[in-house]
Amino acid sequence: MLALPSITNFIKEARGIDLDSFRPSFLKRRLSKRTGVTNCTDLGEYYKLLKQNQDEIDALLNELTINVSWFFRSSISCEFLKANILPALIQNKTNRKDNLIRIWSAGCACGEEPYTMAILLNEVLKQEADQITVQIFATDVDKTALLRAKKGIYGRDAVKNIPYGLLTKYFNQSNDHFQINSVIREMVHFSDFDLLDKKHFSPPEAVFANFDIVTCQNVLIYYQLSAQKQIFAKLTQSVAKGGYLILGEAEELVNSQKAVFRKVFDLGRIYQKH
Ligand SMILES: C[S@@+](CC[C@H](N)C(=O)[O-])C[C@H]1O[C@@H](n2cnc3c(N)ncnc32)[C@H](O)[C@@H]1O
Repeated sequence: MLALPSITNFIKEARGIDLDSFRPSFLKRRLSKRTGVTNCTDLGEYYKLLKQNQDEIDALLNELTINVSWFFRSSISCEFLKANILPALIQNKTNRKDNLIRIWSAGCACGEEPYTMAILLNEVLKQEADQITVQIFATDVDKTALLRAKKGIYGRDAVKNIPYGLLTKYFNQSNDHFQINSVIREMVHFSDFDLLDKKHFSPPEAVFANFDIVTCQNVLIYYQLSAQKQIFAKLTQSVAKGGYLILGEAEELVNSQKAVFRKVFDLGRIYQKH
């Protein structure tokens, strides 16, 4: 039995994630770490353990940092969105008498990123709130993460970056758990969607693309260049003309996309489509 393909097939079936498209050196290093930590003698034994123990799937995904996320992950980009991008977007919409703001969080993990966007918008939308409809679509390939996202309950690590005033305004605390309030929860629509899906370039639930903001942070870093290109093709097609694409702090546009976007923020990865 070849243990590595068995493991990648098993994870694809169990959690939808295609580890075959991941950077091989990264994948092998992390698998070998979990093999050691769990006292397995080799990958074959580790594969057997994975099949018997659901918790080990979570542990492996954590080791790969796949599901790791937190609110206001890039605080500086959040500040920039709040101070510049969102007010400009709202002004632009108001001028054009267009009352719809559409956002897509692609690779949303347990909801921290789309809920952060919802909080920021809620903070910025003041007198325009009655005239503007906000649609936030949040997708991930991992259905277990989406179930957690819909519940909206988080531990201390996930909320550690949230400014205190916003934490008390938008969360209900019970001991060590923080639940996002219903106003914010109802702003986000979650569904499963694989960014490597060959049929659709944006989530079918969103009906049409034309997103004002597409945020896809800390997803591309795991993938080999060929997979990154496939994902970029989707993201690019989904951003409306003049709309924004937000990447994670360690992520860059691939060459083919550099002519399509211009960077609008020196200190973060926020791009505007020409
Ligand atoms: C590290 S988390 C990033 C979460 C959030 N965007 C952030 O920056 O904090 C990466 C997420 O991407 C998801 N993901 C990985 N490959 C994917 C794919 N092909 N399609 C959709 N989601 C994917 C994982 O399941 C995981 O929830």
